[in-house]
Amino acid sequence: MSSENYSFETKLLHNRHKFDPATGAVSVPIQHASTFHQLDLDKFGKYDYARSANPTREALEDVIAELEGGTRGFAFSSGMAAISTAFLLLSAGDHVVITEDVYGGTFRLVTEVLTRLGIEHTFVDMTDLNEVKQAIQPNTKAFYVETPSNPLLKVTDIQAISSFAKEINAVTYVDNTFLTPEYQRPLELGADVVLHSATKFLSGHSDVLAGLAVVKDEELGKRLYFLQNSFGAVLGVQDAWLVLRGLKTLHVRLEQSQKSAIKLAEYLEAHPLVEKVHYPGLENHPQYELQKTQAGGPGAVLSFELEDEQALQTFLKYVKIPVFAVSLGAVESILSYPAKMSHAAMPQAEREKRGIKNGLIRLSVGLENTDDLIKDFSQALQHVKDQHLVLQQGESV
Ligand SMILES: Cc1ncc(COP(=O)(O)O)c(C=O)c1O
Repeated sequence: MSSENYSFETKLLHNRHKFDPATGAVSVPIQHASTFHQLDLDKFGKYDYARSANPTREALEDVIAELEGGTRGFAFSSGMAAISTAFLLLSAGDHVVITEDVYGGTFRLVTEVLTRLGIEHTFVDMTDLNEVKQAIQPNTKAFYVETPSNPLLKVTDIQAISSFAKEINAVTYVDNTFLTPEYQRPLELGADVVLHSATKFLSGHSDVLAGLAVVKDEELGKRLYFLQNSFGAVLGVQDAWLVLRGLKTLHVRLEQSQKSAIKLAEYLEAHPLVEKVHYPGLENHPQYELQKTQAGGPGAVLSFELEDEQALQTFLKYVKIPVFAVSLGAVESILSYPAKMSHAAMPQAEREKRGIKNGLIRLSVGLENTDDLIKDFSQALQHVKDQHLVLQQGESV
């Protein structure tokens, strides 16, 4: 069944895996088999061993490929497993131009693992296309984009980077974790490999760790399949099923969370104790127009700055609704502290160079009532204000 003409939210439900052709079950069966009986010595069936292919994992791989507008999808045991395997497309002596405020785990992989394997890198501010051009070397074989970036929500022009890459026969990777294909489809903008931490919005319930990769080019698909099977960091079937289930509600979750994120960003922006809000849905965001042209929305993640770590500690002590945790993209709102969580793998000097300050906190907006969230933030910020006054009085005594 082709679902080409359906809108995105319909495709989430009415795709090739709408029901199981063998039984009619309206849920993809969880196929626990690690191996498959073969009827012929010379001609094996479609499935032989589950690392190479498993029907449940394959259903998820088909669905994400279709949603991203690709030809092949690949499911991995985590976002980092997807990213690491995709980087194995490169070889010793190759060079990658990479966005500077990349997720901390990707930073660690590139700086501490790939360098050991002879793969070089240059970090750039990808919002500055001149800087990107200047970083290109004769051995540049890849561009690595995360947009909006983590945690400063900077927006990179995917089409421009992909065309630089095409000129020199390099590949463009895009980490699409923050927006998902609901709002951004990098393959349609010329990128070659789309990567996901499916741990986040795609599954959406803080109950599974998973990674995905999607390509459009069939030859690249063959190479990535070879690496997936060789490296073996594949997604287990229970987890593949959880991601498939989460995907069915992606549209309603993201739309609702984004609506709240816009209101919260506006609220925070107007608050005198908030020094800065990073969110591409605000008109004063430096890449607001670009975001509108390349994506269907600004998403449900934002970050904001309080004066310092102490103000942040007070805020966290009193805020009640969001969980304070390492992650994003879930039904519950999540606050995280990049300096000690997602970007702990980045040395402080590197973080500061990139503008990831100690007063910066990231918010992933969940499905709670927006007014409840705003009320909760207001009372926590009131405590920050009170604390500030106490400190000022102490100083003046
Ligand atoms: C943007 C981004 N990419 C990749 C990852 C890594 O994914 P995982 O934690 O599923 O390995 C994360 C995790 O937070 C992320 O935020």
